[in-house]
Amino acid sequence: MFRKLRKPRILVTSGPTREPIDPVRYLGNRSSGKMGHALAAAARRWGRVVLVSGPVGLKPPRGVRLVRVETAGEMARAVFREARRADIIFQCAAVADYKPVRPAAHKIKKSGRSIVLRLIPTVDILARLGRTKRTIQTLVGFAAETRALERHALKKLRDKKLDWIVANPVGRADSGLESDFNRAILLGRDGTRKILARTTKMRLARQLLRIVVNAARR
Ligand code: CTP
Repeated sequence: MFRKLRKPRILVTSGPTREPIDPVRYLGNRSSGKMGHALAAAARRWGRVVLVSGPVGLKPPRGVRLVRVETAGEMARAVFREARRADIIFQCAAVADYKPVRPAAHKIKKSGRSIVLRLIPTVDILARLGRTKRTIQTLVGFAAETRALERHALKKLRDKKLDWIVANPVGRADSGLESDFNRAILLGRDGTRKILARTTKMRLARQLLRIVVNAARR
């Protein structure tokens, strides 16, 4: 919660991360950054906004302080630094769960045989934020799921000690990853459950902000 008269500081993360395999290749994912960037743009109406973004092909929203990162490790460092001053955090980025143990110093040459890529876990940024969160901070996570949407999302809400989770069905052609449209179920720690029907990511961002910021004000 924050004092009513003050404008909240809102931290938004967006886009994928890239985990290097060698100097020319990486492990990535299909996140376009459209949802996170829409949130950052819409959040300007409500407060001061910092956007920590992985590599995306989007123009940065105006009036927002942009911090560009590439890997999960870089995103973690930037987020932990910025989170100290944030009232509300939307962890929208699709952070890699694993990274290659050690990126090769030189381009891996093909040999015609199969190769094994050994991966180790990255830091779970959101879980760490949940553990260290100040009581006055509002923490919003995202759960992109291809099945058992609400069950998986509720588990993440509890396990990561979040205030809200935006449960997002992915794997549908008409919304979600890469699309300009999205749909979601917003679940709150207090048992709130709101179905947000398919709409543009910009409209969905405005709906999410209205609910989350107003709840934080009380
Ligand atoms: N997240 C994070 N750091 C990670 C992985 C995920 O901060 N290393 C955050 C995401 O930004 C998102 C939330 O955790 O807000 C849920 O991410 P998701 O990929 O859906 O879940 P995971 O916890 O990674 O679990 P799983 O991949 O098994 O579904």
